[in-house]
Amino acid sequence: MALRNIITKEDPSLYKTSRVVEKFDARLHTLLDDMKETLLASGGVGLAAPQVGVLKRVCLVMETNVEEGQEEYVIELINPEIIEAEGEQEGPEGCLSFPEEYGIVRRPAKVTVKAQDRNGKFFEVTGEGLTARCFCHETDHLDGIVFTELAERMLDPSELRAPEEKEETEKA
Ligand code: NI
Repeated sequence: MALRNIITKEDPSLYKTSRVVEKFDARLHTLLDDMKETLLASGGVGLAAPQVGVLKRVCLVMETNVEEGQEEYVIELINPEIIEAEGEQEGPEGCLSFPEEYGIVRRPAKVTVKAQDRNGKFFEVTGEGLTARCFCHETDHLDGIVFTELAERMLDPSELRAPEEKEETEKA
C-alpha cells in the first residue's frame, strides 16, 4: 500500500466526470488499498478517486455511526448510485481537496446507495447523518461536483470555533 497525493481545488481533474469501472482487477484493488491508507492518514471521512487524480467511479466512505465499542469502518463503493434519499439535514461540510474551507450544505438525512464491491458484486448500503452526507459528497466528486458549488454560504473561520468547542464539550 502507498499514500497517494490528494489534489486540491486548483487541479482541473477535480471538475471532470469519472469513468465507469469495468475491470475489477488487481489494479483496482491497489487503488482501493492506497485510497484507504490515504483516507485514514488524512483524518477525513471520505475520499473519491478523482481526488487522487484517478478519474474512475470509485470512492470510500467512513461509516461513523457505529455502536459503542464497535470500530468505525471504511465502505468501498465502485460505480455508486444514490437510489433513495429521504429527509433533510443542513450543516457544515468540508473536503480534503479544500483544506480549511467549510460551507453550509443541505443534504438528505438518509440515503441508500447501490454500488459494486471490489470484486464487482452489487450491494446496497444505507447511511444516515454524517454518513448520508458523505455518500452524497463522494458520489458528487465522481461527477466533478464539489461542495463549494452547492454551499448556501461558506463559513468564516471565526464561525468554525463554535462547533469545535461544542465537540470538545461533548467529548468531556
Ligand atoms: Ni471532497
